Amino acid sequence: MKKLYIETYGCQMNFADSEVVASILKDIFALTGDVNEADLILINTCSIRDKAEQRIHKRLQELEALKKKRRDLQVGLLGCMAERMKEELLETEPVLDFIAGPDAYRSLPQLIAEARQSGPQFNVMLSEEETYEDILPVRYDVNGVSAFVSIMRGCNNFCSYCVVPYTRGRERSRSPKTILAEVEQLLRDGFKEVTLLGQNVNSYHWNEGGEEMTFAKLMATVAGMSPDLRVRFATSHPKDISDELIETIARYDNICKYIHLPVQSGSDAVLKRMNRSYTRDYYMQRVQKIKSLMPDCAISTDIIAGFCGETEEDHLQTLDIMHEVGYEYAYMFKYSERGGTLSAKRYADDVPDEVKTRRLEEIIALQGELSAISNRRDVGKRFQILVEGASKRSEDQLYGRNSQNKVVIFPCGQAKPGDYVEVVVHDCTPATLFGEVIE
Ligand code: 5AD
Ligand code: SF4
Repeated sequence: MKKLYIETYGCQMNFADSEVVASILKDIFALTGDVNEADLILINTCSIRDKAEQRIHKRLQELEALKKKRRDLQVGLLGCMAERMKEELLETEPVLDFIAGPDAYRSLPQLIAEARQSGPQFNVMLSEEETYEDILPVRYDVNGVSAFVSIMRGCNNFCSYCVVPYTRGRERSRSPKTILAEVEQLLRDGFKEVTLLGQNVNSYHWNEGGEEMTFAKLMATVAGMSPDLRVRFATSHPKDISDELIETIARYDNICKYIHLPVQSGSDAVLKRMNRSYTRDYYMQRVQKIKSLMPDCAISTDIIAGFCGETEEDHLQTLDIMHEVGYEYAYMFKYSERGGTLSAKRYADDVPDEVKTRRLEEIIALQGELSAISNRRDVGKRFQILVEGASKRSEDQLYGRNSQNKVVIFPCGQAKPGDYVEVVVHDCTPATLFGEVIE
């Protein structure tokens, strides 16, 4: 059988999509982890910031050198960059034999065959229905413990800075029946943790025969399938963190006490220009609801530094909300203008790059302090850890995560990946907890 090598960039959705792609092609290609022996290389791409795209252009140049040596090698580009740049990419990147957007993966076998016969091909059609719900992903490159299950696709929010509504199209949910069947299969295969995934996972909604399935109900149903299965979700929008959802997370021991709640900015004026549809007050009221029901719940966030028109006062408000929430973790970025988005059309990208850099550095430094404070608070505490594998640093150490999604490293003992162990934390860095197993 011919060999397929897949390289994935960007978000967890892209990693889940690559598993769907591997499944669509499994009758014609066997997966390989060695790019040099591949007959087909697929690059699953991200467009979220200019830097992400530049990295992929560079990678394609490297592949061009490889293709010169191997004339029968095919290279295809998938994902958000395919959707954003469309067939123009085939002209600017001659290494590519075909490109396929996020809703076009079922057509990959045809694209591959036609590209071989008649030259470069593309399919960047977006769909209002495609969820790949009947396709059982091929779980490659995973630890056998933790898996993603994609439950909805697309986005209707149109945050003004964001390409996703354009690259992944309208929001659509997958039927509960197929989601639950996929989780059952994961349980049979010995997986211990599922992360329900979607660009706006808590907008999940399904209605069949008058029977309504909200995201909270779906979480409860999945959590009820086995007390031994941990359930996580990503990524959520603050507008959809309902009381029902927070109460559900609190009610089930096996729903992890970790919520990623992107704030983006602490300033109402900036949030308005970002079209985030909430105010700082509303966001804080959601955080308080979470903390009042689950004092041990970890909260992480995404923050953009230097959005259009952001003043020094706006920036200080971002630092202030970070203090107020006390985030466990944050993903932090400089604003990067994306062609075609609302902010590119409406607002000038007017914060100078050196100011963006300085503000981002301040945000990163503050988050470092907040993470260190949060980790120091955990020293002396006892956690249930799901073991994921051997620690990178040493063969005698294992690593796993607690419910709050913090990585904990501890000496091996009898434990193996997939086990739950009780660990007492005795030391930490801002990024990691260190502990001992208690028998
Ligand atoms: N520039 C910088 N960061 C962005 N994000 C999304 N679009 C942009 C952009 N144009 C960030 C947001 C989002 C995360 C996935 O990426 O913080 O939550
Ligand atoms: Fe990147 Fe967003 Fe596309 Fe994910 S959905 S690959 S983060 S642009």
